[in-house]
Amino acid sequence: MSEAKRLAAVKAIDYVEDGMIVGVGTGSTVAYFIDALAPWRDRIAGAVSSSEQSTARLKLHGIEVIDLNTAGTLSLYVDGADECDPHKRLIKGGGAALTREKIIAEASKTFVCIIDASKQVPILGKFPLPVEVIPMARSLVAREILRTTGGQPVWRDGIVTDNGNVILDIHNLSIVDPVGIERELNQLPGVVSVGLFARRPADVVIVGAEPPIVL
Ligand code: A5P
Repeated sequence: MSEAKRLAAVKAIDYVEDGMIVGVGTGSTVAYFIDALAPWRDRIAGAVSSSEQSTARLKLHGIEVIDLNTAGTLSLYVDGADECDPHKRLIKGGGAALTREKIIAEASKTFVCIIDASKQVPILGKFPLPVEVIPMARSLVAREILRTTGGQPVWRDGIVTDNGNVILDIHNLSIVDPVGIERELNQLPGVVSVGLFARRPADVVIVGAEPPIVL
């Protein structure tokens, strides 16, 4: 699948323009995008990064990393996904970077999502839904998830997010109402963010193929 990821990532360069500050996601598909962005280092104003991992790769290529508070509204955000439905709603957070990804998606005018075809699903939920949680609320939130959604929350043991929190992955959830589930989970005290991008879906989805498919 890595060639498909690379093809999607390279196609996303079509959306980059001179002088832009580019929002950059996290993951193996985005790593290809960062590599493809490297020749643009002197043409763009810089990048806002969603993780320490992406920051390191951007800096390696000499791309300036800018704080979102300084950057303001971004024209473009490019990121991968774990699942994508026909309405461009997504599950994200397999790499535990969902909170910063969600912040940057919200701050961006155009969200271009780059995936391989294996990520396309009719209904979200086969991929366990990541939820970032304040550590002291882990058990409380897990019990509430079990009670309110019927899904099985599993602690991603040993993983600490860039924000110092933990991740619960909700298994066996068929997400027929993504906006409703996103809203419901967001309201639980202790939840920092939910890896459902339904209220703010992608604007453009690029599926890696030869030639790439733009949805
Ligand atoms: C990171 O937390 C995730 O949201 C990634 O965007 C997602 O897991 C896709 O990752 P890959 O591009 O590595 O498949």
